[in-house]
Amino acid sequence: MAKYRDSDFYNASPEFQDGPLITLPDPSSHALSIRATALVFADPASRHLFDYIQRIAPSEATVLIIGETGTGKELAARQVHALSNRKNGPFVAVNCGAFSESLVESELFGHEKGAFTGALNARSGWFEAANGGTLFLDEIGDLPLSAQVKILRVLQEREVVRLGARQAIPIDVRLIAATNIDLSAAVQAGRFREDLYYRLNVAALNLLPLRERPGDILPLVRHFLERYGKRMGLSSVMLGDDAERALLDYAWPGNIRELENIIHHALLICRNGRVAAADLNLNTSVISPLSAPARAPLSSPIKPLETVLADLYEQPAANLFDTLEETIIRTAYAYCENNQVQTARLLGISRNILRHRLKRYGFLTS
Ligand SMILES: Nc1ncnc2c1ncn2[C@@H]1O[C@H](COP(=O)(O)OP(=O)(O)OP(=O)(O)O)[C@@H](O)[C@H]1O
Ligand SMILES: [Mg+2]
Repeated sequence: MAKYRDSDFYNASPEFQDGPLITLPDPSSHALSIRATALVFADPASRHLFDYIQRIAPSEATVLIIGETGTGKELAARQVHALSNRKNGPFVAVNCGAFSESLVESELFGHEKGAFTGALNARSGWFEAANGGTLFLDEIGDLPLSAQVKILRVLQEREVVRLGARQAIPIDVRLIAATNIDLSAAVQAGRFREDLYYRLNVAALNLLPLRERPGDILPLVRHFLERYGKRMGLSSVMLGDDAERALLDYAWPGNIRELENIIHHALLICRNGRVAAADLNLNTSVISPLSAPARAPLSSPIKPLETVLADLYEQPAANLFDTLEETIIRTAYAYCENNQVQTARLLGISRNILRHRLKRYGFLTS
């Protein structure tokens, strides 16, 4: 289950003002992953974002982070926490898409013994775990409406009621939520509560895809070359001109996470301390499902589709809507090679809704 607590987070150094890197005061003393040791904000758009983070972090405002996969949403959330007055409290990250609908409320709010079948002991939820600190709710668009109501209540009343409990527990938590779907569209479609949307969206951090902040690409490449190179005992790895060109030309559908993986892999296979274009595992042959909508405007392919639909309306089949929906779900799922996260993103729906449809049409059994 995708969640963890981390009360030992880093402090950003003010030296950032003069350079693109934020570094740990003493990185060697932290047994954290590479992601926690430095941040790159080199492109003007990123520097602007970092400036905004610095301004909103000390407040108690709820933050909504919006961005494609791998753009650094969790990193930004951690940064807000680290620069806030809550930095000595816990940072708890919870992926809302990781729970089934029946479990999500007990995970978030906790439960008393006997609250439901299988609740053998009382258990605190993630709101309580984050007390005094920050709760990061990732993929908030995946939350069922019933849990959305309860979150709103917790935010308004500043107290949490465990499932099956009579008494509320006072709670002091700053909420940061993240989404990679368009929440305002989800509100329009009735899948996300409008009141919660406005309550979350007090401060919004928009993380641009990497292709829209090209000034970050090479600094990130150098950053990961150095970090992974050091880990692997390599000294001063060079980046060939052809590799540099290829990295700058690439569309980066998987954003920074993809860049990190590509550099790590290139270091494993490069020769003579030099990374060449051939060492980069760039997926240029396939149009990624994630970037496809950006490359092909929707208006053009929709026209022939409308013609086909008009033909279907002439001789309507029974259950036409279900047939069409099944076709969309089946073809999108196949296009994304049965990857649920990518299919949900491609269609702009939450993973819970996708899973529900996949089950309905028999593509998923459990
Ligand atoms: N500004 C940055 N500087 C350095 N590394 C970064 C930066 N932003 C993101 N990363 C790296 O990119 C990776 C992805 O970041 P993160 O997990 O925060 O993305 P995400 O938007 O939460 O992704 P997902 O939507 O898939 O959950 C991390 O491993 C992190 O190390
Ligand atoms: Mg994330």
